[in-house]
This record gives sequence, structure tokens and C-alpha cells, in this order.
Amino acid sequence: MSSLKGKHIVLGITGGIAAYKSAMLLRLLIKRGAEVQVVMTPAAKEFITPVTLSALSGKPVVSEFFTANTGEWHSHVDLGLWADLMIVAPATASTLGKMANGIADNMLVTTYLSAKEHVMVAPAMDLDMYASSSTRRNLATLASDGVEIIEAAEGELASHLVGKGRMAEPEEIVARVDRFFSRSGEMSGMKVALTLGPTYEKLDPVRFIGNYSSGKMGCAIAEECASRGAEVTAICGPVSVYPSHPNIRVVKVESAAEMHAEAMKEFPLCDIGILTAAVADFRPETCAGHKIKRENDEEMTIRLVRNPDIAAGVGAKKKEGQTLVGFALETDNAFANAERKLERKNLDMIVLNSLADKGAGFRTDTNKVTIFSRGGGKREYPLKSKREVAADIADAIVEYREKRQTDLE
Ligand code: PMT
Repeated sequence: MSSLKGKHIVLGITGGIAAYKSAMLLRLLIKRGAEVQVVMTPAAKEFITPVTLSALSGKPVVSEFFTANTGEWHSHVDLGLWADLMIVAPATASTLGKMANGIADNMLVTTYLSAKEHVMVAPAMDLDMYASSSTRRNLATLASDGVEIIEAAEGELASHLVGKGRMAEPEEIVARVDRFFSRSGEMSGMKVALTLGPTYEKLDPVRFIGNYSSGKMGCAIAEECASRGAEVTAICGPVSVYPSHPNIRVVKVESAAEMHAEAMKEFPLCDIGILTAAVADFRPETCAGHKIKRENDEEMTIRLVRNPDIAAGVGAKKKEGQTLVGFALETDNAFANAERKLERKNLDMIVLNSLADKGAGFRTDTNKVTIFSRGGGKREYPLKSKREVAADIADAIVEYREKRQTDLE
């Protein structure tokens, strides 16, 4: 394990029996060199005293917005900016609900809302609460907001019932922290160019041919690469939410032709190019200047012409040292089609997602992928949140580039 020396961590503790484990977690983080600021909810103090936690962290514990006798204000904004990472452990059902819905009625949730960097939560609660649809919904919302969920483990619970709901052990949480920091500088100095979202092909001033892409998969990949230190240019089709991170430059386009023009400018400058967009293969041959009126005819014919294939275009101009990653969205013959696209478009890797898999593909917060690499590698992954899938894709890209480098040496 690498050292956490100099890393700023906010440890949020909420009111559950597992709060006693947070003292051990705090000790492990401090021993590994991190500077830790503890933020407790008022209920957490019923389970563990601030005295223990301030003695272990070497800092006064923050719990209220003001210190009652001095009137000193504790700035959640400053804490959010200071933190390289925030961990909420244990996270009760109540705090998860507040975080998922922005109910900022205590110092811990306001700090979460101000946090600029990565956030992890380690839930702990009774088995039925953990399995309840409201907790599942809140966890899914947090996962799609980019929060890393450290799932609870099975075992004996405070109620003496046995089931899933025990907070992950401090050692497991520290291992996740370690993995996060070892990944965080992994792409620094690299340029990533990425296409995401759908394209709209205009028929007239009010109508277009489009598709169901929400841009969620592409946003998650852009943010994952940015959080690993890459400088990212995201060429975005018309989506409602754009990727957000200081390292990301967003270029907005609408049609495949516009996306193609931007990609041909940006991709030659990148080390890693990722094509997540669902690009229309065809566009109407002409776009009417006025709204097309309903004629008396029972039928209408629209003549379509081929759009440029952006992936094949950048693939044909691929430079030494560049890594190009495409996606394949399939409904049948998935593996064979994906492998064919990898070859035909001169890509290094292709990420297959199939509409035959429940929870995969367009608009969902989850995806299930298989990653094919040039040279025959193939890895299948289970259904995960799109943010976790993005991390798997980024890991696979880093591994592929390292292997290529070693093969050259
Ligand atoms: O946006 P979401 O709602 O989160 O959904 C994500 C997604 C399903 C859109 C995404 O995961 C995905 O599969 N994107 C690729 C969709 C697609 O167009 O697949 P394809 O098999 O038709 O294309 C193969 C590859 O060529 C893709 O990398 C595509 O970006 C690229 N392509 C295709 C046609 C074209 N004219 N230009 C291209 O660059």
C-alpha cells in the first residue's frame, strides 16, 4: 500500500452503532500519513465521543455550524475545498437520504454538498433498512452523482439479526482510499478527447432524427479520466447534463457533421481518444427551410444520405502512441460485431454493451460491458453503475498502454 502522506481527508461520522469502527478507520488513515478532519452529525455523538476522535485526529471535531460560546463559524465551503477526499462512514439511511436529496440541515451534509473532490460512503444499518426500496433508490442516486459506494457486508447486526448491513471493515475502506489515490495521478500529463451523447440530424426547423443516448456513459468516462489527472476535451452532442470537472473542456455540437469536424481537430492532439457518442449513420439529404406541412398524402418519403464515420476517420489517422477506444452497441451477434468494428475502425479497444442485457445501454444509470483489446484480450464485467464502468474502462486503458510500452521496450 502506498502512503497517504499529505492527503486531506474529511471523515464524516453519522449516528449508528458502527461509529465505533470509525475510530479505527481514523487511526489507520492517520498512521498512513493523511491529515483527517472529522465532521460528526449531532446523532453520532450519542455513539462515540468527539474527545476520542479529536485525540486521534489531532484536530477539534466539527459538528455544529457555530461554536456556541465563541460564535466561531465553521465553514463547510472551506472544508469542501480543503478535502482531497470525503468519506462518510458509517453512513446511516437518514444521512444517505439527505445526501441524495440535498437536505442540508447539518454540517456533514453541507460539507458533502460543497465537496469538490471524490466522495465515498460506507453504509451501515439494519438488513431490512438496507434492502428497502428507499435506501436502494438513494444509493442509486448517489452512485449516479459519482459517489463511490462501499457496500455493506453480511454478518451479525446491532439488532442481533444476521444479514447485509454491517459497515465494511476499516481495512477494506483504507484499501479503497489507497486505490483512489494511486489512480488519481495516473493520467496526469495526458490529453483525452472524447465524443458523447446523441446527434440530431435536422429535417426542418422543428424536427430531427436522433436517438436515445443521454450522454451519461460519456460524462462518467470524461469525469473519471479528469479525476485521474487527464486534460479532457469532451465533444458533446445535445444532452441535458454535461460533464463537470476543472480538467474538462466541453465543446457543444448538434449534428454528426459538426461532431466529425470537431473530432478531426481534437483527436490528432490527444493521447487517448474515446468514442462513446451514438452518432446517426444517416441524415436527411436536405433540411427544409420551413416547417414541413402535413400534405394530403398518406405517406411521406425522406431520402437519407450517409454521415461520416467519426471513429473510422480518426482511426485512419491514428498516430504512434495514440490509443483509440470505441464502443459497440449491439442487439444481436454482439461479440462478432464488436470484434469486426475494432478491426474495421482501426481501434485499440472496443467496449461492447448490448441492449439484450437488462440495465445496459441507453439512459440507464448502469451498464454491463465487455472490453475487447487489440491482440485478442477480452474481459467481461458484471452490471455496475456507469461511474464504476468508467473506472473499469480507465483501468483497462491504462493497463493496455502500459503493456504496449513494455512490449516496445
Ligand atoms: O449516453 P447513454 O444514454 O449513457 O448511453 C450510452 C451508449 C449506449 C450511447 C454508449 O454506451 C454506446 O454504446 N455508444 C456507442 C453507440 C453506437 O453508436 O454504437 P455503434 O456500434 O453504432 O458504433 C460503433 C462505434 O463507432 C462507436 O464508438 C461510435 O461512437 C462510433 N461511430 C459510429 C457511427 C458514426 N457515424 N461515427 C462514429 O464515430
